[in-house]
Amino acid sequence: MASRFLLSLLLSLIALSRFSTATAYNGGVGLSPQFYDYTCPKAQEIVRNVVAQAYAKDPRIAASLLRLHFHDCFVKGCDASILLDSSGTIVSEKRSNPNRDSARGFEVIDQIKSALEMQCPSIVSCADILAISARDSVVLAGGPNWVVPLGRRDSLGASVQGSNNDIPAPNNTLPTILTKFKRQGLDVLDLVTLSGSHTIGNSRCTSFRQRLYNQTGNGQPDLTLDQSYASQLRANCPQSGGDQNLFHLDPVTPFKFDNQYYKNLIVHKGLLSSDEVLFTMSKDTMQIVERFANDQGSFFENYVKSIVKMGNISPLTGSNGEIRKICRRVNHN
Ligand code: HEM
Ligand SMILES: *[C@@H]1O[C@H](CO)[C@@H](O)[C@H](O)[C@H]1NC(C)=O
Ligand SMILES: *[C@@H]1O[C@H](CO)[C@@H](O)[C@H](O)[C@H]1NC(C)=O
Repeated sequence: MASRFLLSLLLSLIALSRFSTATAYNGGVGLSPQFYDYTCPKAQEIVRNVVAQAYAKDPRIAASLLRLHFHDCFVKGCDASILLDSSGTIVSEKRSNPNRDSARGFEVIDQIKSALEMQCPSIVSCADILAISARDSVVLAGGPNWVVPLGRRDSLGASVQGSNNDIPAPNNTLPTILTKFKRQGLDVLDLVTLSGSHTIGNSRCTSFRQRLYNQTGNGQPDLTLDQSYASQLRANCPQSGGDQNLFHLDPVTPFKFDNQYYKNLIVHKGLLSSDEVLFTMSKDTMQIVERFANDQGSFFENYVKSIVKMGNISPLTGSNGEIRKICRRVNHN
């Protein structure tokens, strides 16, 4: 009896240690979908209702909320650092190159937080609000559903340098983008899969202008871009001025979360250079693009895995960080 007990204890210790190496990159261990079941059972319903109201007024908000979760997780982990405004020693990530004049949806997060504070004060973190809103956004736009692991806590600081350096830029090369994903414990399949988020939402002219006029600095446009699409784009994205003019990332089904993004890549109508390179610069990524273009089910299945993985990047848990009362500022400063 006793030896059987010892054996099974030993086996479970081995299983545990294997589990923790497999998840070494993402401190996702410790998060659980049931985290608020007793402390704030209505948490997810409250988030869903506010997101749905915002979406009814402005369907682009789905894209904007999804992107906030990404830009949060890539900088010091999923800790709501992106939500902090500048104050005291904190320099807001909202000022960084990827976020300035671009990241949006902060007012919706504020609304969700105040609804949650009324129902269960100081319980639900801003980082978890970002993760749940991202899921709800994808579902509202017609994409896959998934169970969100919860229990992240909020940071006490922000990193504008992290935001500038760790979030890929639209004119980064494929190796640079992949390096930035690998730094987060994400692989090439995660990269191609999560880039499919560009099936919804907008880009400003300034994020892809270089492709239209002077891609490599020799005065030539990016010739991998479909040239009739390029000339359409030039009409509203002139060589100078119009920086903030908006374009759908997926011009075919701009508000639908589907696999159209990959179909666009195959006909060289990916809007950003970082989209195009997934089809043109590596056989590996190209094969994944083709698979997803032909099989939306495969895209959705992988999307759920990759976005949960992204949501597990270095969360603060236990007594690290805090539960902010207002997402824009730390509790004591
Ligand atoms: C692979 C590297 C990526 C690059 C270089 C990139 C770059 C960009 C750029 C430049 C924009 C347009 C911003 C603007 O001009 O205002 C954008 C928009 C967007 N990105 Fe990405 N992105 C990447 C990956 C991702 C990932 C992983 C997600 C989500 C998980 C995501 C979600 C979005 C969404 C939804 C929008 C539209 C936002 C809106 O309409 O408000 N992107 N991205
Ligand atoms: C990418 O775009 C940024 C911002 O417009 C610019 O400063 C940089 O030189 C570009 N990098 C490359 C490699 O073209
Ligand atoms: C293209 O970019 C290069 C390098 O940034 C610059 O020297 C050149 O003047 C630009 N050409 C045009 C036509 O804008």
